[in-house]
Amino acid sequence: MARFLCFLLMLTATGLHGAEPEIDPFETPLGHPHDLQLPAGFPAPDLPDDYPLTDERINLGRALFYEGALSRDGRITCGSCHQRRFAYADRRPFSLGLDGLPTPRNSMPIFNVAWKKEFFWDGRAPSLRAQVLIPIQDHREMDESLHNVVRKLSRSRVYLPVFKEAFGTPEVTAERIAVALEQFLLARTSLDSKYEQSQRGEATLSAEEERGRSLFLRNSSGTSCATCHNGPLFTDHAFRNNGLTPTDDRGREKVTGLETDRAKSATPTLRNIALTAPYMHDSRLKTLEAVVSHYSSGLHRSPTLAPELAKLPTKGFAFTPADQAALVSFLHTLTDPKFAP
Ligand code: HEC
Ligand code: HEC
Repeated sequence: MARFLCFLLMLTATGLHGAEPEIDPFETPLGHPHDLQLPAGFPAPDLPDDYPLTDERINLGRALFYEGALSRDGRITCGSCHQRRFAYADRRPFSLGLDGLPTPRNSMPIFNVAWKKEFFWDGRAPSLRAQVLIPIQDHREMDESLHNVVRKLSRSRVYLPVFKEAFGTPEVTAERIAVALEQFLLARTSLDSKYEQSQRGEATLSAEEERGRSLFLRNSSGTSCATCHNGPLFTDHAFRNNGLTPTDDRGREKVTGLETDRAKSATPTLRNIALTAPYMHDSRLKTLEAVVSHYSSGLHRSPTLAPELAKLPTKGFAFTPADQAALVSFLHTLTDPKFAP
């Protein structure tokens, strides 16, 4: 419900009225219900209850994700900056939006977002449905109004039947665009890797990967990588300062207004991490070796540095070169070959 109210507020803010769906979205789902097919025992995500996931809506969302009409000049799509082969991230440090304008931060990979509650590096979008309309209207990304997008898609003979399949009638509305994109993103799950295969006895980690795994999970200091990158999604979904030298990007503080949130970012998942270089919100680290070296001896101390890192005696974990290589090898085992072929 909160999500729906938030959406109404957004429509009012953008001056788009009359977008009310003709079909009661709380009624039985149209089309074919979509099953996320989670591994046995995996915690099910809390999905929006107003529009159940259907194959038809996900297919529409996929088409919209690669649709140039969402941008002012027709050339930028969501897929320009979220490329499937990089787990829907971008290899450029800063993605190029309309007129070649660079984004202020590194593009984020998109998978397992069904378990997230706050979106973007600083968590400024409170729901995925609200998030997906932001890049369309952002002048550095797609720079188009929702009004124009609705107008362009409404004129398309290709889209009207697809909207009808997804929502029961062919009307194109900003809400339907948001729901379809949301559903496409919710359905991007990546939960398998050599690491899981080794746990199921279907693969064996090399001695170096195994050494990396135990360094990742445990450290004599009591803090380890898994203090923050933990659980089956390799993230605690919290906002932390992991000791990067500060810039004028205030991170989470921009959202909460609290100085105690300065330079904090959402802890990223580490699944598929070998595919998503460069690293950190501002792409400052080019390789996984550089990331591990940062945690080993590059921590910058500031009042908001995560206490778990601040308690380390030196400028970091002080890993040996062999430890660092082992950690990098372990991070490579988190790639899902089926997700980003
Ligand atoms: C010009 C490049 C660009 C385009 C086009 C773009 N994005 Fe993004 N996307 C980014 C960047 C950069 C971020 C991180 C921004 C930040 O945190 O400030 C991001 C973040 C996101 C996130 C947050 C993921 C998370 O885990 O919090 C989602 C979801 C997303 N984009 C979906 C979309 C969708 C849907 C579209 C198309 C409607 C789209 N993006 C178009 C560059 C782009
Ligand atoms: C105190 C919590 C914390 C600990 C401990 C921690 N990290 Fe992180 N990690 C973060 C946060 C927060 C970020 C994002 C920082 C940013 O970009 O501003 C991050 C970013 C990363 C990234 C880049 C992800 C991306 O998508 O760009 C990698 C890789 C990474 N950490 C690996 C590790 C490894 C390996 C360890 C152990 C040696 C570790 N982390 C320990 C919180 C932590």
